Amino acid sequence: MRVLVVGGAGYIGSHTVYELIKDQQEVIILDNLSSGYMELVHPEAKFYHGDIRNKSDIENVFKQEKIDVVMHFAAKIIVPESVKEPLEYYYNNVEGVRILLEVMNDFGCKKIVFSSTAAVYGEASGICKEDMPTKPINPYGETKLATEKMIQWVANAYGFHYVIFRYFNVAGADKSLKIGLMKDQLTHLIPVAIQGILGIRDHLTIYGNDYPTKDGTCIRDYIHVSDLAYAHVLGAHYLLNGGSSEIMNLGSNSGFTVLEVAQAVNEIAPLKYVIGDRRDGDPAELIASNEKARQILNWVPKYTLKDIVLSDYQYRKKISKK
Ligand SMILES: NC(=O)c1ccc[n+]([C@@H]2O[C@H](COP(=O)([O-])OP(=O)(O)OC[C@H]3O[C@@H](n4cnc5c(N)ncnc54)[C@H](O)[C@@H]3O)[C@@H](O)[C@H]2O)c1
Repeated sequence: MRVLVVGGAGYIGSHTVYELIKDQQEVIILDNLSSGYMELVHPEAKFYHGDIRNKSDIENVFKQEKIDVVMHFAAKIIVPESVKEPLEYYYNNVEGVRILLEVMNDFGCKKIVFSSTAAVYGEASGICKEDMPTKPINPYGETKLATEKMIQWVANAYGFHYVIFRYFNVAGADKSLKIGLMKDQLTHLIPVAIQGILGIRDHLTIYGNDYPTKDGTCIRDYIHVSDLAYAHVLGAHYLLNGGSSEIMNLGSNSGFTVLEVAQAVNEIAPLKYVIGDRRDGDPAELIASNEKARQILNWVPKYTLKDIVLSDYQYRKKISKK
């Protein structure tokens, strides 16, 4: 299959490109490099520099390439920034996809795999299933939910088929260590803790230790980026084999406390941490039910928390030497 990966120079997009190429698929990337890096672009992928908010940039790709399925990763993803700049977030994350869908429709390409997020569930807690109510609590989550709905209406009107994946906490790096989460994007627990053992930051702050969990710290679901990426390969095959439109969570079906994650990092090298105040809107426990993806795609995540932490450490160590 010929896959257009929009946002293929970013963290998750680049890992998906690696998995697609391992699966012997042809990959075309469209990316404006706003938060992506040429060094994450697989050498065998064809790269177009362009912005999905410019219709002509997308048309240029479709005029030159026959595309069977589109994967969309090209979003702005920083929650606090989305609160400060909501219009930018709607412009990029919603309007960009509207234009992409318009061009896809014009060129008769009607299959899309879309990256959504657990942020659409808002302050839900416990085990999240796809049919739970969606109530985002920030503009980032709202833009993702609005786009999910737009894709659904477009599918209804023009005969598109989609797979929408809602990701939980994504971390780790490809085992080649050629790609990973680049250094200026760090807000998530695992890479931040790893920086703590590499001496890039002094300590890890754990936000609250009085939650009703086994050690008082929040429980979250962690998924290795290569497991997540591989689900997209399966999702594309599923659509091209005539699969019906679906929304699926991608997570591990299990959870670890923040302290357990800190301990996993501490096994690599000593990690200092301090306990800070709780943050607003942090539920005690958030875990993805991944039954749907298991059943429909036969997707089974193979990496453990230890694998996730170790691969992130190895990648971060490698790039910190540059
Ligand atoms: N990283 C996570 O933990 C996480 C969790 C849940 C969902 N997601 C979703 O996964 C997707 C990818 O996230 P990521 O972590 O790889 O982010 P990222 O910032 O590393 O990648 C996004 C890529 O899209 C490109 N891009 C952004 N706007 C563009 C535009 N207008 N035109 C063309 N290219 C554009 C960027 O240059 C970048 O290469 C996003 O849609 C995000 O909402 C990520």
